[in-house]
Amino acid sequence: MEFFDSHAHYNDERFEEDREAILNKLYNEEQITRITCVGYNIEKSKLAVKLAEEKDFLFATVGISPNDIEDFSEENLKEIESLAKHEKVVAIGEIGLDYYWNKENKEAQRKLFIEQIEIANRLDLPIVIHTRDASVDTIQILKEHPVKNTGIFHCCPLNQELIKNGLELGFYISFSGNITFKNAKSEEPVRLVPNEKILIETDSPYLTPEPFRGTRNDSSKVKLVAKRVSDIKGISLEEVSKITYQNANRVFKIKEK
Ligand code: NI
Repeated sequence: MEFFDSHAHYNDERFEEDREAILNKLYNEEQITRITCVGYNIEKSKLAVKLAEEKDFLFATVGISPNDIEDFSEENLKEIESLAKHEKVVAIGEIGLDYYWNKENKEAQRKLFIEQIEIANRLDLPIVIHTRDASVDTIQILKEHPVKNTGIFHCCPLNQELIKNGLELGFYISFSGNITFKNAKSEEPVRLVPNEKILIETDSPYLTPEPFRGTRNDSSKVKLVAKRVSDIKGISLEEVSKITYQNANRVFKIKEK
């Protein structure tokens, strides 16, 4: 069995000291044979690309997240566009709206999101969406600014309306440790997503699944997310590993091995 962690941040400070050892262990001992390292500002997007250059099994995304809006400038958007032309860059992201952390600059967040959708469309890439407390505006923007290659709702909020709308627009739905949390009410949301549209991720170093909450997350724990999907959907862990691997290859347009 092999797993594809479709969203992790090995470009985060919390991996600075042991990044190399962890990545090697994941690949050699934990059956994590593909990982997408996700950017969220200029500096971390550059680092994601550098790490993807160093490791065959790592892929990168580049983008400015709504929580890094201080990086929003014409010059930086040009830099994102030029980084995104690298052969290991598989999506623009994470981009989107976060009205939980930032209520004061909604208009600027929407503008940043739309400008990066346009970059994705110019470069024929999918997008990785971060959306928090902003479902209605997120869906409205995606309807008004269609993304040619669709993309992924990352760490998808367990909001059935959002999932239905996202699926209708052709997007993939990615679940993280959030579906393992007690009181998460994850059954219905997971069942809503057809097998050909589901992805699994860790969002490492964040969102560590049960029973390890509170510790630093890493991609080996994507297996706990897969296990929860397998329990809810009533299919084998092997099948979850296979379909989520194929789905990640398809959305990121990475060749099958
Ligand atoms: Ni993330």
